[in-house]
Amino acid sequence: MLALARAKMCAFARLVGPGGHVTGLDFSQRMVEVARRRTPDFSLPLRFMQGDLHELSFADNTFDRCYAEKTFQHLSNPRRALAELIRVMKPGGLLVIAEADHETQVLDSPYPDVTRRFLRFRNAGMKQPDIAHRLYALCKDLGVTDIHIEPLTCVTTDYKNIEARAHFVEGMELACQHAVVTPEEAELWITAFNEAVRSERFFHAVTWFLTRIRKPL
Ligand SMILES: C[S@@+](CC[C@H](N)C(=O)[O-])C[C@H]1O[C@@H](n2cnc3c(N)ncnc32)[C@H](O)[C@@H]1O
Repeated sequence: MLALARAKMCAFARLVGPGGHVTGLDFSQRMVEVARRRTPDFSLPLRFMQGDLHELSFADNTFDRCYAEKTFQHLSNPRRALAELIRVMKPGGLLVIAEADHETQVLDSPYPDVTRRFLRFRNAGMKQPDIAHRLYALCKDLGVTDIHIEPLTCVTTDYKNIEARAHFVEGMELACQHAVVTPEEAELWITAFNEAVRSERFFHAVTWFLTRIRKPL
């Protein structure tokens, strides 16, 4: 199995049957080292390597399973990466790609128009904010017909759970610096945001799409 999902590597390695093994891959050598350090059980059939999803060094038809999580949104050419994953999978093999669709985000605020501009600004700073819902057509383009899409909406009501990744206040300040919102709008929005967090009325949701495909035989 080939996997791009740091937190799930050990679980995958415990699941593969006798003789199976898991290869963890990331473009960043630093991330590869971190993943290695965080793997306490050296007896697991697991190895980590640096690599580029756009140009995998594996032969055609190598893996039974591939799994990629939170990776396609960072790619410059998702179509090429998808073609590469399909290429290195055996015929009949399964590929699962799990991505949040950032265009499905909702964030409750008394200033919905400001929120919409803010979220659009943030998405524009990402390489592929909408890749989760574009994968279906990309798979079809690449000749795959066995495609199953599973939606999963993640609702957060305790901001602490996503604060380290979300940085909504800093993001709104940046949107203001880029004239996406006025200073007055930013101030009102941040005040309302902080009040929502303080009074336990914070609400954020985003839908993930898990795209599962089977390589044609
Ligand atoms: C948000 S992190 C997710 C890491 C991991 N997939 C996980 O679920 O924990 C995004 C990762 O994508 C990696 N990445 C970006 N471009 C890549 C590429 N072309 N090939 C492989 N990995 C890439 C980055 O190095 C980064 O570690």
